[in-house]
Amino acid sequence: MTDASAIATLGDAARAARAHAHAPYSKFHVGAAVLLDNGQSAIGANIENASYGLTCCAERVAIFAARIQHPRARIIALAVSAGSDDFVHETHNTRMPCGACRQVMMEFMAPEAPVWIDGVGALPLSDLLPTPFKL
Ligand code: THU
Repeated sequence: MTDASAIATLGDAARAARAHAHAPYSKFHVGAAVLLDNGQSAIGANIENASYGLTCCAERVAIFAARIQHPRARIIALAVSAGSDDFVHETHNTRMPCGACRQVMMEFMAPEAPVWIDGVGALPLSDLLPTPFKL
């Protein structure tokens, strides 16, 4: 169970993490933050590349950072904040986590764990990805 103030703090961290984006191609800045069951947190931002397909989304940067720095901890909540003054095509959909990141979340988070999306609110991960791939 993650309380509302913990989610709000995580959302603030995701918003602040947008400042770390490396997004010279899309100019679309995304920040993410994850909360761990040991009380620690990790942040990420989107990291683009001149070879576009090598880009990594903010959510995966945050999840991978947490996994490396706290290998035994569970991720109990994730927050993501997307948008930029330089990016002119913002819609409801541009706030939402991409499908690849939803699948990666499912690897490291429980289906009922909250995913807070800036401008949308908090949803259980299973609402975002009801039928994940599993081996
Ligand atoms: N992006 C994310 O960081 N997270 C998502 O869930 C969707 C897209 C980034 C990747 C790229 O740097 C930019 O947004 C435009 O696609």
